[in-house]
Amino acid sequence: MSAARELEDLAREDASDAIKHDTQGSHGAAIQKYQRATSTLLKLVKLYPGYNLNQLWVDRASSYQERIQTLRDSRGSIDDQNLDLESNGNGVAKPLIVEPVKATYNELIVKEKPDIKWDEVVGLDNAKSSLRESIVFPHQRPDLFPLGWPRGFLLYGPPGCGKTMLAACVAHEIDGEFITIDAATIMSRWLGEAEKNVAKLFNSARRLLEKGKPVIIFIDELDSLLGSRDQEVGGEVRVRNQFLKEMDGVSDKGKKLYLYIIGATNKPWALDWPFLRRFEKRIHIPLPCLEARINLLKSLAEPLHIDLDVELTELGSLTEGYSGSDLKDIFQVVQIRTVSELFASGQANDKSAKPRSITTSDFTDVLSNRKPSVSKEMEKAYHTWGENFQAL
Ligand SMILES: Nc1ncnc2c1ncn2[C@@H]1O[C@H](COP(=O)(O)OP(=O)(O)OP(=O)(O)O)[C@@H](O)[C@H]1O
Ligand SMILES: [Mg+2]
Repeated sequence: MSAARELEDLAREDASDAIKHDTQGSHGAAIQKYQRATSTLLKLVKLYPGYNLNQLWVDRASSYQERIQTLRDSRGSIDDQNLDLESNGNGVAKPLIVEPVKATYNELIVKEKPDIKWDEVVGLDNAKSSLRESIVFPHQRPDLFPLGWPRGFLLYGPPGCGKTMLAACVAHEIDGEFITIDAATIMSRWLGEAEKNVAKLFNSARRLLEKGKPVIIFIDELDSLLGSRDQEVGGEVRVRNQFLKEMDGVSDKGKKLYLYIIGATNKPWALDWPFLRRFEKRIHIPLPCLEARINLLKSLAEPLHIDLDVELTELGSLTEGYSGSDLKDIFQVVQIRTVSELFASGQANDKSAKPRSITTSDFTDVLSNRKPSVSKEMEKAYHTWGENFQAL
């Protein structure tokens, strides 16, 4: 076993113990173990400055450090031990937003009833029909699918183009249970626990199935859960293997199981073949085309007071390369602009006062200060990857 692997295992054990103590309320012991895990991780980073998981270790170390601080604050004692996060010699520790590690699995997953319909998702016709054919139809008429149906769906593409919305639509249409889980959160908060949580996730999905309803597990940022082989170290391998095993259990075509795994990723190239293979459908969720942008703009404009001179078709052409969520942000900025003017004029207290109508120059001003969040190269990278791996 390499020295790096030994250190990682050490950190994992300590972190796992820390979390255990933390959940049991033994804060002193938890602090001690978090400290040991932190120093081991930092030692690892110092010893192997070029290691490609350094940022992950630094992130974890800083999340433990924050937890230590929270625990200390709650104990009312301030300890001035310095854990030397900055001097890692490679990445600089960035502040992490970490909720207290209460360490219950339930905190990691969100079960919710989505209330969103297909026509609220603009464009993406291929993706919609692929999801309907493979999930909705078999659910309505399983007798028509003697060979079974796919269980794993990968939605890949740039951020803010409707992946999450689509997954929610499926759950809504089949009136299913919708479990959403963020893979990045599992990996950064659960050193030593992630693998168990993957098993728990699938167990709880199976329990929900017993109630007779279909279940959709939506895993956001799927790539952080698995990574590619050359990035694997220690726990990541085990999490990944556990996940593959669970996926195999689900896709046993002999069973009429209404459990679907929808994974979303902005980095499909980080996933390797054994993993991709289990996602039988791999669907590109691209940036909106001109027609989709115009339709998105129309739906965003609907509740607002827009000047008659605003040509949404032209605005559609001006916003090539912008994602659905970019367009929404632009409208929000424009809206804030007119509302702020109303407040500045002192008229906002009059409940019947309305902001002035939004003009073309409001949009062009905002657009001139805001570039699309996805670059042309990124967009091309999705297409190139899709040429090899897309499976509709
Ligand atoms: N095709 C679309 N139709 C309607 N609204 C959209 C569409 N794409 C994006 N949006 C808007 O952008 C927001 C973000 O979309 P969503 O969360 O589905 O993106 P995503 O692809 O999951 O992004 P990420 O990769 O960042 O998770 C939505 O809440 C919606 O307001
Ligand atoms: Mg999303």
